[in-house]
Formats: sequence, structure tokens, C-alpha cells
Amino acid sequence: MQRTLVKHALASETPQDAILVAGWVRTRRDSKAFSFLEINDGSSLASIQVVADAGIPGYEDISKMTTGSSVQVEGRLVESPGKQKWEIQATAVQLIGGSPETYPLQKKGHSPEFLRSIAHLRPRTNLYGAVFRTRSRIAAAVHQFFLARDFVWVHTPIITASDCEGAGEMFHVTTLDPMADNKSYENDFFGKPANLTVSGQLEGETFACALGNIYTFGPTFRAENSNTTRHAAEFWMIEPEMAFTDLYGDMDIAEAFIKHIADTMLADESGDFEFFCKFVDKGLRARLEEISSKPFVRCSYTEAIDIMLKSGQKFEYPPYWGMDMQSEHERFLTEKHFKCPVIVYNYPKEIKPFYMRLNDDDKTVTAMDVLVPGIGEIIGGSQREERLDILEGNIERLGMDKDAYYWYNDLRRYGSVPHAGFGVGFERLIMFVTGVQNIRDVLPYPRTPRNCEF
Ligand code: 4AD
Ligand code: MG
Repeated sequence: MQRTLVKHALASETPQDAILVAGWVRTRRDSKAFSFLEINDGSSLASIQVVADAGIPGYEDISKMTTGSSVQVEGRLVESPGKQKWEIQATAVQLIGGSPETYPLQKKGHSPEFLRSIAHLRPRTNLYGAVFRTRSRIAAAVHQFFLARDFVWVHTPIITASDCEGAGEMFHVTTLDPMADNKSYENDFFGKPANLTVSGQLEGETFACALGNIYTFGPTFRAENSNTTRHAAEFWMIEPEMAFTDLYGDMDIAEAFIKHIADTMLADESGDFEFFCKFVDKGLRARLEEISSKPFVRCSYTEAIDIMLKSGQKFEYPPYWGMDMQSEHERFLTEKHFKCPVIVYNYPKEIKPFYMRLNDDDKTVTAMDVLVPGIGEIIGGSQREERLDILEGNIERLGMDKDAYYWYNDLRRYGSVPHAGFGVGFERLIMFVTGVQNIRDVLPYPRTPRNCEF
């Protein structure tokens, strides 16, 4: 007999004479003549209740079917007298793998900190099961959004020689022993310095300037020493890049994208979204509904600084024109002042990377950040500098190696076009739609400073 997923069994329209499910025991209660088993196979938040009468084949092992053990059940799907619609009246049960009392998930209600220390087992809990099913669903929604708009998914390299953001926060890729003497890039695998990518943007731009609209979606790496709830050393980024598009076209796509993801979550009927609304963040549904239905505010950097200066709000870092916004500033704007998502644009050129397009004021560049309540910055993007002379000027001014970027500059040499794009932090997106507050709880195996377990 073929295995039925618990979620399909629970969604059945009719009773079924023969059904087989398999999963892990959440709880078991015994009485004299029968036992109740709650079985979860990870296909849904909900478990299925199994009634196993004493004496059916396999019942001799019932005492070994402890919390955490794996079992297979054959039986009939029947209407349940309890609060759930269906249960299984077992005709046979089989212990697959036992689970002694050392199993760490005996009881409910462990702290996230403890569960992070057992990251290999935490997907078996309600919260993490819901988070990782949602992560998969939202990844699919990301592809849907772009493919429906004729964007081409480009797999930009993970190993690269460039530093897109110019922040020097790279993990080096080398085959040389760090303890050995006489190290030289000459002897290294690539014959020159190489690192894990901080962003697929630069390579993405070359494809946008050939295929029109493209996006990347993959892992990125940053060796920034920020131990916050919103930073990881390894995270996933979605980076669309659009030819023949300016900053305003860029903002339009970014806003439509966030709305599409909010709508996807609001339409979720798996039970996972409901779980987040009930147990993780009571304000989640209302927030996503607002985001889906109302236009985002667009506010220039200069206006944003002005608003903060006039607000009377106390900031740890007092705002001034020219500063890089901190999380407290972002959250003030989106949570306190506008109370909705805000797109801040036209930032001072000094605080932004070399590739952003210089505005006519000669002071600002066409950067834009999307800030959302609860998270702060979720998207960073810009229109790119398409004028060769200005771009080369930036590269020189910042002391970058001009020769290393010849291929990037070629886009400006041969058929240069206005183009723009942005990067979405995928984990921040998942935090945003689940209400989960710590990035460590939406990554299967979070990598943060001094932490590379599993
Ligand atoms: O603002 P960032 O640095 O922009 C770029 O990398 C551009 N190259 C994107 C582009 O224009 N194609 O990063 C983009 C987003 C941020 O808004 C944030 O959501 C996320 O990536 N992000 C991180 N997420 C988790 N951990 C970190 N350490 C992150 N750093 C950035
Ligand atoms: Mg940014």
C-alpha cells in the first residue's frame, strides 16, 4: 500500500477503508483495551490521531512507541468523535525506529535558545516545521512572481573575485593551509584572491544587459561581525535586475514583490499561517493585510533625516545628514512615524557603493531601501551608474582595482542602458511573513560569528 501524507489524510472528503501513514510519535496515551497515538509526518502542522486496539498486529511493541519514535500505521480513516474531523482506526501498527527517554523533545514549550542547540531535531517541533514549510512555499512564490513577469533566473557564481558592496566583508576561498609558511596567491587554487560572494548583482547586471529582466536567488555570505537578530553570515538573497529601468521602475517592482509575498502568506490555508498569527505574532494578519492593500510611502533620504530631526524622538545615534541609517532610525520611520512600509531613496553618495547612479545634485545617488515594520531594511537597491566616465571615476576615488572590473565597465562601453535592481534578504522576508523575531530561527542551520555547528 502506498503511504498517504497526514495532510492529505486530514483533508480527505470521505472515509477510507484502507490507508497507510508513517511518521513520528508526538504523544501516546494508553488505556486497557487500546492506545491513542498522535502521529506527525511533517507534511502539516496538524498530527493525525490513531486508535490502536490491543491485540492488532504490532501492538506488542506499543510500549516502545514513545515520543520521537517512528512508526507506520495501517487502518481505516474514520470520522473522529473528538475535535478533529478524521482519525485512523488502526488495523496494524509497526515500530520503525525507537526513541529512548534521552530524546530532547519530550515536552512542549522549549525556548528558542535551547532549540537552536538541537537544530538537527528542531524541525520536528510545531514552530520550526511551520517555519521551514513556509520558507519553501515563499521560495516558490518568489519564482512565481518573477517568472510571471518574464524574468530569467540566472545562477550567478558563489565563488567570485569581486567585492560588490565594497565593504570588504568577504570570506576568502583558498586551498592553502592557513598555518603554512610561504603562502602566495600565485600558489592558490585560482592563482589570485577569491571569496564567497556577498551579492550576485554585478554578474546579474551583465545578464540583465543581455536578457532584459533577470533575477538571482541563492546563498550569499558576509563576514560582518554583527551579532544582531537580523544578520547572518550565510543568508539567501533574491536580486532582480532590469534593463531600461530607472529608480522609480525599481521601486514599483520592489513594492509589487513585497505585496505578492504578503498575499501569498494571507492565502495560506495549510494551518501554518494561522499558527504564526495565534502563537508567534498576534498582529501579523492585520499587518500583512495593510501591506497588501495600501501603497508604500516614498520618502527621500533628506526628507527622512528632516522628519527625524523634527520628531523630538531620542535616538542612541542622533540623526544628521550624511549618516548611515541604523536600525533604530529605520524602525522609527516605518513603525512610529509612517506606520507602514517606507521606501527611502536618494542617499548621500559617500555612504553607498561605487555602482549607484549619481544624481544631478552631485551629492546623492539613486539608492533605495524598503523598510518594513518589525524588521527595518528588507530590501536594498538602486539604479546603476550607466555612464562610463562617472563609474570609472568612482572606482578610482574608492581605490578599487580598475582592471579587475573591466568586464563590468564593458557594459557601459558597449550599448550602455539605464538599469536598476535590488536585493531582498530572503530570511528577513521569512521573518516578515511569520512574525519570527530572530534570523537564527528561520535558517535551517544559522551561521553567525563564532557559531558554525552542524
Ligand atoms: O542592502 P544590501 O547590502 O544590497 C546589496 O547587496 C545589493 N547588491 C542588492 C542589489 O541591489 N542587487 O543587501 C540586500 C538585502 C538587505 O536589504 C537585507 O535584507 C539583506 O540583503 N541582508 C542580510 N540579511 C541577513 N543577514 C545579513 N548579514 C544581511 N546583509 C544584507
Ligand atoms: Mg542595504
